Amino acid sequence: MPENPAADSNAQDDLPTDTKLTEVVQVSPRSPASLDAGAQSGNSALSIEAASPLPTKSESDDDVADENTAHNNHSDAQPLSANLSLLPRCWAIIAPHALLITGCVASLLMGVSLGYLAFRPAAVESSPPVSSEPDKASASSPVRLFATTHRRNELIKPLFPFDLDQAVVDLGRRLFHEPALSGNGRMSCANCHSLAQAGTSRDALPRGINGQKTKFNPPSVLNAALSFTYGWEGRFATLEDQLDDPITHPDKLGSSWERVLKFLDGDASYRAEFIESFGGEPSRDLVAAALASYQRSLLTPNSQFDQWLAGDESALNSDEFGGYHLFKKYGCVNCHQSEGVGGSMFQKLGVAKNYFESPSDPTGLGRFAITQRERDRHVFRVPALRNVAATAPYLHDGRAETLEAVVAIMLEFQCGEPVNNEDVRRLTAFLKTLSGELPDTRAKDTGN
Ligand code: HEC
Ligand code: HEC
Repeated sequence: MPENPAADSNAQDDLPTDTKLTEVVQVSPRSPASLDAGAQSGNSALSIEAASPLPTKSESDDDVADENTAHNNHSDAQPLSANLSLLPRCWAIIAPHALLITGCVASLLMGVSLGYLAFRPAAVESSPPVSSEPDKASASSPVRLFATTHRRNELIKPLFPFDLDQAVVDLGRRLFHEPALSGNGRMSCANCHSLAQAGTSRDALPRGINGQKTKFNPPSVLNAALSFTYGWEGRFATLEDQLDDPITHPDKLGSSWERVLKFLDGDASYRAEFIESFGGEPSRDLVAAALASYQRSLLTPNSQFDQWLAGDESALNSDEFGGYHLFKKYGCVNCHQSEGVGGSMFQKLGVAKNYFESPSDPTGLGRFAITQRERDRHVFRVPALRNVAATAPYLHDGRAETLEAVVAIMLEFQCGEPVNNEDVRRLTAFLKTLSGELPDTRAKDTGN
């Protein structure tokens, strides 16, 4: 059980991205002690990286690598040429003793070759393991294996699980499905984020406990842990911060922390679970830690596309592969990228062509609602596209009912491309390869 839940959740934050794992390789491939330090420094850079599109990052990584090799060649070359220019002078000094030296060298060589012959069988036997040792060592490290097998140049990255405490995850799962957290005891998180419906709702704008519609379409909680910010407008920094909104907002669970904690304190089995998992009584922060842990467990790896990323050429058929090609060609990947295939930056809806009829459409304001900066008008957190085939309806207001419809909107308003059925068909085929697997621990969930 973690002694300090805050420290534990920090530790969880340290593991989300392959980028960080890669950085770990660069920091120190072999020393486990420095893994944490590497991951932490990776974490502190997260907000900066997250705000800038990954292409710059991966390119700069490669540049750094190139520079490193160039630098090494250069520094090797310099001492060598310096030595060469010194050669004649040395030779003049050495020449008088040349005969002596030749004799010594000859007898040395003889000794060495005799020794070699004597020990040859042993040397031959031991040489393969010795010479291949560095490769073997790097291949047996999971970090290295990942770095060498996946297609590093793609902007979409495979998923890597968080290191989570199962007891905390289980408590979080229970809370996620707990109707007593709501103001009327009848609604849970799962009502709008049903796992049976890929972590979201079939309704464009579902209703909270009072029958009031939500302002936005609920994003999926699957893979939400990977997002750089939360809510369509990027209102919340972390999963833990985000929680006050669904607990208290009247268009969601419409409850209060006072009410939630009164219920949990009065429930012997919840109290026992909190004490067992955290060593502490129920509190707002521990409820948030448990729910966030549960949501961090909701990653969906091993999609067809992940298999392709891992090097399996046969994982995509020609339409799916063609769709991915278009996804890159039209620049979709410039916005929808990294592990979540989105969730890594803000972008305007309508970059290529004005999308909103009225600039003051209240749900269309986007980040402007928070920052009041004109350049944030109609700017939204780019949604993650993993499992997108199962999360209809689409867009912040749920107005696009099918994947084909939203792909056509993207082509027209985000890419400025003419919409044709063939492109839409292929892009959709590609998007369907982003559906992954929920790990077994979720099998208990019924969805509501
Ligand atoms: C009545 C429906 C409803 C309920 C109940 C509900 N949510 Fe949500 N959830 C939403 C909507 C709508 C949004 C989008 C809000 C926004 O963008 O500002 C959302 C957003 C989220 C997000 C942000 C996801 C992202 O990628 O940005 C998380 C996480 C989340 N909810 C978790 C929860 C949890 C945990 C609970 C239970 C405590 C819960 N929700 C209950 C409707 C609901
Ligand atoms: C300039 C950035 C940008 C580009 C380019 C872009 N998108 Fe998007 N995409 C967004 C944003 C922002 C949203 C959310 C808009 C909203 O709902 O307000 C979005 C939403 C989507 C959605 C709906 C997701 C959901 O859960 O509601 C899909 C699917 C999608 N994009 C696919 C694509 C495809 C396919 C392309 C290329 C043809 C593409 N996008 C190009 C930024 C972009």
